[in-house]
Amino acid sequence: MQTLSTIASLRQTVADWRNTGQTLAFVPTMGNLHDGHIELVRQAKRQADRTIVSIFVNPTQFGPTEDFNHYPRSETEDTAKLSAVGADMLFLPTASEIYPTPPQTRISLPELSNRLCGISRPGHFDGVALVVAKLLNMVQPDILLLGEKDFQQLSILRQMVLDLNMPVTIASVATQRHSDGLAMSSRNSYLTAEQRQTAPLLYQTLCAVRDAILANDTDFTRLSAAASATLTQAGFKVDYLHTCRQHDLQPATTADTNIVILAAAWLGSTRLIDNVCFSG
Ligand code: PAF
Repeated sequence: MQTLSTIASLRQTVADWRNTGQTLAFVPTMGNLHDGHIELVRQAKRQADRTIVSIFVNPTQFGPTEDFNHYPRSETEDTAKLSAVGADMLFLPTASEIYPTPPQTRISLPELSNRLCGISRPGHFDGVALVVAKLLNMVQPDILLLGEKDFQQLSILRQMVLDLNMPVTIASVATQRHSDGLAMSSRNSYLTAEQRQTAPLLYQTLCAVRDAILANDTDFTRLSAAASATLTQAGFKVDYLHTCRQHDLQPATTADTNIVILAAAWLGSTRLIDNVCFSG
């Protein structure tokens, strides 16, 4: 696996691969790789001739009081994992390579962004959209692989690619979970042993709401409130827990069949997100 840190060298390698007719899959990450990321790489390898992974902790998607400076960085371990799974290239740029000057361009999708995580993380999705658009312009892959755990991010990036006619296909990959159901996340490493014991309740609670809806309970507001109360009682500070329609993240109604229940909740100083998608 090659590790490249400049856009010029990335473009050169991509051009060489393109010139020999090879297809490209791209997995953008912020590093601290876990099995969820590795599954993205495995699926990428099945879908294209070459797999490029980026590791870039993107400053523009962190708010001023968020964990940018403390975000877990583990480049040596990450490089070994990517090499072992058979990625062809790691793109590991510096912040000044990606943002040589403060960016003036904004990519905002307010309808999808100003809800759910966007309420407590203003500007977050603008930062995600900007960096992913920039990375797509650099890599120009055929396929972009994204995890379903960040469901709102996935919806926003699908819409951005559609709106801007970006020539890439997005493939989403199911959330990878620990055996107790907790979604794999780089931020799980912040949890204390006691919080780690409590954390799986987030997914269990979302599944319980899904099961109630599938058993024909259609009072989504009451179900969400009861689920939030369960989490609060267990020690979570719930940011939101909503039942939405998958295609536009608006509140679900009884007429909707493709539903996603999304939640964000704090355990101590760690903010966890998760979701459960189903067709009712
Ligand atoms: O999901 C992430 O890790 C990030 O938001 C992404 C897509 C790599 C953009 O920085």
